[in-house]
Amino acid sequence: MERLIVALDVSSLKEALKLVKTLSKYVKIFKVGKELFTSAGPEVIKMVHAHKCQVFLDLKFHDIPNTVGAACEAAARMRVFMMNVHALGGKQMLFQAVQSLHKLAEKNKKIKRPLLLGVTVLTSMKDQDLAEVGIYKKVAEEVRDLALLSKACGLDGVVASGQEIEIIRKALGPDFIIVTPGVRPLWAAHGDQKRIITPKEAIKKGASFIVVGRPITQDKDPRNAAKKILEEING
Ligand code: C5P
Repeated sequence: MERLIVALDVSSLKEALKLVKTLSKYVKIFKVGKELFTSAGPEVIKMVHAHKCQVFLDLKFHDIPNTVGAACEAAARMRVFMMNVHALGGKQMLFQAVQSLHKLAEKNKKIKRPLLLGVTVLTSMKDQDLAEVGIYKKVAEEVRDLALLSKACGLDGVVASGQEIEIIRKALGPDFIIVTPGVRPLWAAHGDQKRIITPKEAIKKGASFIVVGRPITQDKDPRNAAKKILEEING
């Protein structure tokens, strides 16, 4: 199984193309986030597909159920492999996201239902930040509860930091997908990531996929950096 997802955190189609061309020998899934999608639009998804790779569309939808359902459908029509919504959008929103993807895949057999992930608590938030928006739970508890809600609504998994993998695995069981960013091999700089974990540790703790950006994209030899990380997680 492909477990490595590379974050295309660049602002133009041209830069994204350069990375995909360089990496597609080893990397089969690329994450397209808000910056790149807002700048380059659906063209970037077509470009990744043209290199026989798949897309994790990281747009973290959070809106009224009807709007999120329609946005999920639009993403599925672009044939993304994986996408996400904020679990804080609530039960109805999550349920509608799931329903709209199932309905579309049933109606149109050519469309494979994308994997749908919930974003629990952003890793930039601490207990105090949660309290400021009226949530008086510890981050870890809130993460676990939102993961449980995501599963109950039919989502396939969640995005979670290295610190949260074990608690989610324990509460949600072996089949729930956990996608972990903030991954740093020992040989790479940490950048602004604080709660980091190595690729091997993340997989050992139970991550299904890891998301790696700068340690690969800003290395002087991105292809070799990707190869080293794959050897670490597969070997
Ligand atoms: O360059 P780096 O490896 O830090 O990139 C990690 C990617 O994962 C970025 O696209 C970042 O936005 C994303 N991410 C994260 N932490 C989260 C959720 C997403 O670092 N909790």
